[in-house]
Formats: sequence, structure tokens, C-alpha cells
Amino acid sequence: MRKRKIIVTVGTRPEAVKMAPLIKQLQHEEWADCRVLATAQHRGMLDQVLRLFEIKPDIDLDIMQPNQSLPTLTSRLITKLDEVLATEEPDVLLAQGDTTTVLTAALACFYRRVPFGHVEAGLRTGDLSNPFPEEMNRVVAGRMARWHFAPTTCAKENLLREGIDQSSVFVTGNTVIDALLDVAKRCDGASPYKGDRRLILVTSHRRENFGEAFQNILRAIKTIADENVDIQVLYPVHPNPNVRTGAYASLGDHPRITLCEPLDYLPFVAAMKQAYLILTDSGGVQEEAPALGKPVLVLRRETERPEAVRHEVVKLIGTDYADIVSNTQRLLDNPADYRRMARGVSPYGDGLASGRIARILKGYFDLSN
Ligand code: UD1
Ligand code: UDP
Repeated sequence: MRKRKIIVTVGTRPEAVKMAPLIKQLQHEEWADCRVLATAQHRGMLDQVLRLFEIKPDIDLDIMQPNQSLPTLTSRLITKLDEVLATEEPDVLLAQGDTTTVLTAALACFYRRVPFGHVEAGLRTGDLSNPFPEEMNRVVAGRMARWHFAPTTCAKENLLREGIDQSSVFVTGNTVIDALLDVAKRCDGASPYKGDRRLILVTSHRRENFGEAFQNILRAIKTIADENVDIQVLYPVHPNPNVRTGAYASLGDHPRITLCEPLDYLPFVAAMKQAYLILTDSGGVQEEAPALGKPVLVLRRETERPEAVRHEVVKLIGTDYADIVSNTQRLLDNPADYRRMARGVSPYGDGLASGRIARILKGYFDLSN
């Protein structure tokens, strides 16, 4: 069988984490010629992950601009991606998740009639404004996909409800757990927090939270730190200027709050393992923390990841000041409530998702040989 050229696209930090195990897998498959395409929608945070997994992009579009707007980012990406497809003529292009990179990669493939495979397919809140613009990105990208690699049966059902052909949907687990299990066994001692207080790990970067919701989050974190002398907050701040400016202005000067640059994935996983609990609006962290047995309070009104909420190890608490403070305080004060949420379940994967995706693609090429 001739080798098939598979372009694996990565744009932002979470895409790199989740594509790294699949890239490694495809690089070992004798039937695949795996080409890594970095759009570099993120620069520093993308490079952090690529370095850790020793992945060197074959093509790098170096797209990121400071405080980029969605229309500018979208138009620059679609133009450059089309040039790549024209030159490379891949058999397949794979993209992961719901960023602008994914939306434009799917569209560029559609225009050039390149088969597009969507990794982490089928996540939905049902509300195009939450998360914004990611819900729209994944709905549109999904519509153009030849293969839908759904992490869970719930994600598969979302796709079937939209009329997607069942034969193109595969439940594989989420590749994030492949990456997490790999890194979790080699990260001991790497957390930047060296004290013995209970650690509250925080991340926040969602566009729909910018403005009042983000101010509520910051105010609540300050209250929690003020009222609990036995805790330490560790908050690696996302470099988006809308996040960075507010976070440093509100929390930059508190003895029990440590703000830092985004952590490399290895120390971040170590910090998750060390954490007592996690406050986040991140998608990936909602998937990883339950597998590490860490309670997560989600700073959003909706989630496309209902599985861990159903297991009651993740709780959706919204962005009201009083709700964030009271839910956090309850976990700090009530050991029984805490233990119920710290059970350690992994509804998103078993660490073998990348192998499944590679086998599905190989099966397709075997048949079309
Ligand atoms: C993007 C994704 C979001 C994902 C998040 C992961 C879209 C629309 N949003 O949001 O779904 O959850 O990435 O973190 O695709 N920046 C840097 N260095 C970096 C990365 C970002 O300085 O390494 C700054 C730049 O000023 C950049 C800004 O952050 O312009 C925004 O980056 P962008 O990718 O547009 O949006 P995110 O908010 O990071
Ligand atoms: N992460 C990291 N360093 C940090 C914060 C997060 O490596 O300082 C990892 C985290 O473990 C997860 C991914 O980044 O794998 C999530 O990225 P992000 O929250 O930016 O995006 P989302 O998942 O919300 O799209």
C-alpha cells in the first residue's frame, strides 16, 4: 500500500496537548506519512507543548498577532491553509476541537475537497453563544467532516441527532487522556508550589466570560484567599490581554495568591495532581482533573462535557460571585462533600484513543486500496 499523507493540524495549546499522542502514533505507522502543520494561532503556549512532546512542525504558518480579532485571524488562516493544501495535496487532514484553526482547516479542506477528520467531534452545549465562538466552530467543522472521532457515546449521539451519517462516527475516547497518562507518570516534584497549604488551582480564559463574569471570578478568588489562611491559590494566567490585564490588576498583590505565566504542561499536570481543588473555565482541564481524582468547579453557565458532571465529580457553578465563593467554601469546609467529588473517574478516555483513530484511518485506506 502506498503511504498516505496525513496532515495533523495544531493551532493552540489544547490542540497540541490532544494531538501530540496521535502525531506520535501516526509517526510510527508504516502506512502513514504524517506531516505536522502548526498554524501557531498561539505562539508561546503552542511551542511549550510541542517542546515537551519533542514535536517539530513540518509547516509553520506563524499566524498569531497580539490581541488578534476573530475576523482577522479567520481570514488570514483560511488564505494560508489553502496555500498549504494546494502545495501538499494530502490524503487526509486532521484537526482537533473547536478553535478558529479547526473551523478554517475544515473549510479549507471543503473548498479543496480534501477529506477532513475531526478529532474530539460531537461536543455540544446547544447554545451558539456558549462557549463563544467555539460552539459554532465545532458545529460547522463537524458538518464538513468525513470522519468524526467522538470521545464519548454522548458526543456520538449529539452528532446522530444532527443527522450525521452513523458510519462516519467513531467513539474513540479523548486523546487528552493519552497525553495526561503519559505525562502524569513523569511529573512528580514539578509543581511550582512548594508549600504545604491546600492548593486551589485556577485557570480562566473564555471569551464569553470577558467583562462582568470575569470580574466576578476575580473578586470571588480574592474573597476565598482573604477568608482562608490555610490555602494557596495558584493561577497561571492566560496571555490573552483581556485576561492578563484584569487578573494582575485585581489579584497581583495578595500573599495567598500566586499569579504566574502559563505553565508548561508537565508542571501544570503536577500542579493538578497536587491541587486540593480546581476552579476553571477550561475545556481540557474538565477532562483531565477527574481522571486525577480532583474536584472541579466550572466557571461557566454551560458545558459541552456533561459526563463528569453526571458522575458528580465536576460541578457547573456559573460565574456569580456568591456562587463561586459558597461552592468553593463548601468543598474546603466539608470533607464528606469533598470526598464525593474526589473519587477519580475518567469518563473521557482510557489512554488508548490515538491508537483507535490510527486504526480507523488505516482500515479506510486498506479498503480503498
Ligand atoms: C483560543 C481559542 C479557545 C481555546 C484557547 C485555548 C478560538 C476562537 N479560541 O482562545 O477556544 O480555548 O485558545 O487557550 O480559537 N496569546 C499570546 N501567546 C500565546 C497565546 C495567546 O500572547 O501563546 C495572546 C495573543 O495576544 C493572542 C491572544 O492571546 O492574540 C488571543 O489568542 P486566540 O487564540 O485568538 O484566543 P484565545 O483566547 O487564546
Ligand atoms: N494547561 C497547561 N498549562 C497551564 C494551563 C493549562 O499546560 O498553565 C493545559 C491543560 O492541562 C489542558 C490545556 O492546557 O491540557 C487546556 O488549555 P486551555 O484551558 O487553554 O484551553 P481549552 O481546553 O479550554 O480549550
